[in-house]
Amino acid sequence: MPQGCADRVLITSDQIQQRVRELAAEIEADYPEGPIYVIAILKGSFIFLADLVRALKRKSIRIEFMGISSYGNAKSTSGQVKVTRDLDVNIEGQHVLIVEDIVDSGVTLTYLTRVLEQRHPKSLEIATLLDKPERRINQVRVKYKGFQIPDEFVVGYGLDYAEDYRNLSDIRVLTGIA
Ligand code: PRP
Repeated sequence: MPQGCADRVLITSDQIQQRVRELAAEIEADYPEGPIYVIAILKGSFIFLADLVRALKRKSIRIEFMGISSYGNAKSTSGQVKVTRDLDVNIEGQHVLIVEDIVDSGVTLTYLTRVLEQRHPKSLEIATLLDKPERRINQVRVKYKGFQIPDEFVVGYGLDYAEDYRNLSDIRVLTGIA
């Protein structure tokens, strides 16, 4: 498999940090006092999650993880999604904020919001660092968006290609892959 090249920076680490602070301020202003259940979708969201929750100032940020897998090749989803790691808390009556690294086709979030709505949270919103609207198949209502990006394959800041590049601190365009 070609390894590709990730030399071109699309969004710098400084730009990300600034935007994360803005998103956190919006979130703080929108929610009443009390807990927010932040649900991070593994694995890609882990760095965004870590920065976002540290920028939120209230004490009651409950951090939970879910695993979702979609079947397909390494670059795109097939449309078939399943939960591989579920929550171990009850979210009924709670304010729930899903944290994603990227919304691409929208298939993952359409499935996930359907699953979580059935558990009757008080509110259910989505925060994503990246939004790639050109690839959308399913429309999803995303309340907090970091950056809208063009239809290019991006890596870094949690996003991978074949599990590589997640550790980069900026978002880069990957070229030279099949
Ligand atoms: C990525 C990303 C989202 C999903 C978005 O996850 O983290 O969960 O794809 O794609 P969609 O809008 O087309 O459904 P991925 O399956 O690559 O797993 P990872 O987060 O573990 O890298």
